[in-house]
Amino acid sequence: MNSKHQFVQLSDGHFIPGLGFGTYKPQEVPNSKTTEATKIAIEAGFRHIDCAYVYQVEEEVGQAVRSKIADGTVKRQDIFYTSKLWCTFHRPELVQSSLERSLKKLHFDYVDLYLIHYPFSMKPGEELFPKDENGKTIYDHVDLCAVWEAMEKCKDAGLAKSIGVSNFNRRQLEMILNKPGLKYKPVCNQVECHIYHNQRKLLDFCKSKNIVLVAYSALGTQREKPWVDQSSPVLLDDPILGALAKKHKRSPALIALRYQLQRGVVVLAQSFKENEIKENIQTVQLDRIRLDKTQRFGFQHR
Ligand SMILES: NC(=O)c1ccc[n+]([C@@H]2O[C@H](COP(=O)([O-])OP(=O)(O)OC[C@H]3O[C@@H](n4cnc5c(N)ncnc54)[C@H](OP(=O)(O)O)[C@@H]3O)[C@@H](O)[C@H]2O)c1
Repeated sequence: MNSKHQFVQLSDGHFIPGLGFGTYKPQEVPNSKTTEATKIAIEAGFRHIDCAYVYQVEEEVGQAVRSKIADGTVKRQDIFYTSKLWCTFHRPELVQSSLERSLKKLHFDYVDLYLIHYPFSMKPGEELFPKDENGKTIYDHVDLCAVWEAMEKCKDAGLAKSIGVSNFNRRQLEMILNKPGLKYKPVCNQVECHIYHNQRKLLDFCKSKNIVLVAYSALGTQREKPWVDQSSPVLLDDPILGALAKKHKRSPALIALRYQLQRGVVVLAQSFKENEIKENIQTVQLDRIRLDKTQRFGFQHR
């Protein structure tokens, strides 16, 4: 990690900013909130934006970035933009056109990083979550190595500067790494990672292969009812996090984000609130925080 700019070098030579702005939103939140929040994030200093085709906000994110380019705040090359290949586009002949679809929505010529969003495939078509008449998901059988070869072609075509994966376990990563004729390694694996699930083993494996781990839901997710048991503990209310925050005169959110950065993990943070966005950018502006006294959840610096 470059300590001055908090960039992490990827195995293909490109650099990824250590802190990224998350753009996933629940369906009931209006898309205009994404445009507004992304502009605030860029003004606050975020230069890494994490998005995906399936979030259905690439038009809004593109609009926000272009407006910040137009007013002189940033240039396109200052922004590190990630998109992700959705599971219904895994068939190799659909991969590049899916990326082109995202680029068209964004009005960009390239993405900085393109990820296989999940290591499973669903029936191709316009529906994002194809279901049969009984409401069951219709999966598709596509060899992940063939998907990866199509991702490599996107990089060769200059449409993605770097390529990686998301939600892959060690076995799935090994499958790609051991693929005969592998041209490019995945530069990163974006996974759920926070103080209650710190992915220590996967992180060790990724580090050993020079794959950057990117942490999502580092602040405990947006706690959407369909995905999160509402009686589960609220991460940012964790007493150890609270005690550390008090000790270092920082907020629990900053400690939770800084924890990831200090263990060599690139971290994403989502928010629609200006005060939170402005607070979260401090993650890359602080001096090192001593986090090595805490034992719980393996939540010690390493
Ligand atoms: N690859 C994948 O499969 C995958 C999956 C999930 C997410 N992601 C990516 O990761 C991003 C982040 O994950 P996430 O959306 O689950 O959310 P998150 O970053 O864990 O946290 C979101 C919530 O934390 C609260 N928060 C943020 N900053 C705060 C602060 N300074 N103080 C107090 N509370 C704060 C906000 O809630 P309030 O607004 O209510 O305060 C926000 O909704 C996503 O947006 C997406 O880009 C990727």
